[in-house]
Amino acid sequence: MTDTNAITQAVQNLYNVYPFPPEPLTDGAPPGYNWRWCVPAAHHFALGWVPHAWGELNILDAGCGTGVGTDYLAHLNPTAQVTGIDLSPAALGIAQERVARSGVAHRVTLQQLSLTDVPQLSQQYQYINCVGVLHHLPDPKAGLRALAGVLAPGGLMHIFVYALWGRWEIRRMQKAIACLQPPGDYPAGVAMGRRLFAHLPADNRLVRRERERWALDNIQDATFADMYVHPQEIDYTVQTLFELIADSGLAFLGFSNPRYWRLERLLAPLPELLQTAQGLPQQQQYELMEALDPELSHFELFLGRQPLAHFDGSEATLVQQATPVRSPCLMGWPGRSLLDYDYQAVDLTPVEQELLARCEGDLRVNEVLAQVPSATLEQVQDLQKRQLIWLKR
Ligand SMILES: C[S@@+](CC[C@H](N)C(=O)[O-])C[C@H]1O[C@@H](n2cnc3c(N)ncnc32)[C@H](O)[C@@H]1O
Repeated sequence: MTDTNAITQAVQNLYNVYPFPPEPLTDGAPPGYNWRWCVPAAHHFALGWVPHAWGELNILDAGCGTGVGTDYLAHLNPTAQVTGIDLSPAALGIAQERVARSGVAHRVTLQQLSLTDVPQLSQQYQYINCVGVLHHLPDPKAGLRALAGVLAPGGLMHIFVYALWGRWEIRRMQKAIACLQPPGDYPAGVAMGRRLFAHLPADNRLVRRERERWALDNIQDATFADMYVHPQEIDYTVQTLFELIADSGLAFLGFSNPRYWRLERLLAPLPELLQTAQGLPQQQQYELMEALDPELSHFELFLGRQPLAHFDGSEATLVQQATPVRSPCLMGWPGRSLLDYDYQAVDLTPVEQELLARCEGDLRVNEVLAQVPSATLEQVQDLQKRQLIWLKR
């Protein structure tokens, strides 16, 4: 067996013993909302517009695990066909039961397949979700290249990979467990890790970090195992992340947690430095944030395959011709106080409320403005920037 095969086998074994994520199965649609799994919301966020009609929508959930994301992808995209692939038969079995109980099994196909073998699916996908998987491959670059090869032109991909610096304590504990407990017996590794955490000094840095940041997530052994006894993990810095992206030939379309990356989050009290930072090339701005915030433990981002049409919403005549539609990701509408797509509180002005009420998808922006004479084009553009409305073109 080659090293690559041995790694893949070990990863498969881990997820057969501890299928991930260990979310309970429920009947009916999954609770809550994650806009990253709603293809029009992701498209609008990444490119600034949505098409009038989607046509065929094929979605791939690459490394779907027990199907939590797959289930949301099917429910939030009610016309889509969703394919989930994974190495682990145990995880796939749970995923199958999940989508059956939630009522979307007829639009979901689950298959045991390695991510690097996706060309075997003989299908192109308009959207690929690959969360928490690439960093467990022996060769993540090969994995991302394979996914890029089945992404349709103009298609989008959402990926999540681990970041190096915020996982420092995790990596130390992984090492300690591996020293004390021969790898491969995952339940024994979990028991060893729990024992160490229980008996190391309370002020030990690894113990403190586990208690303050991860313990709630790690109540279940499956999550603990995923974190501390994983046989394969490659962590990224901003620099190596951008090398991974460049190798794939895909375009970087932005982090899907943009508030985290706002320079103002850390530099607002230092306006001169903020201005200097804002003048840096984009990747260097991210490297600065990475340097200043050692909590960074993952990257989540959108990629796209050319040709990609960006619409920044600043061109007045183009905006006037677009059709505004209220984002379906708003909680609390109709009303003045909402939660936006990212669960952030929004207080609408009366004019904004009136504008939103008219964004039903049957009028163009100039027609909406004619109906709300007190509103301006700038207010429409602002609503679009805040993802409260989408522009269809
Ligand atoms: C941490 S879990 C993530 C599951 C799911 N994407 C989520 O976010 O909840 C990683 C999953 O990737 C799968 N996986 C790892 N390497 C893989 C590969 N080469 N091909 C397909 N699946 C793989 C594992 O079996 C596991 O189910």
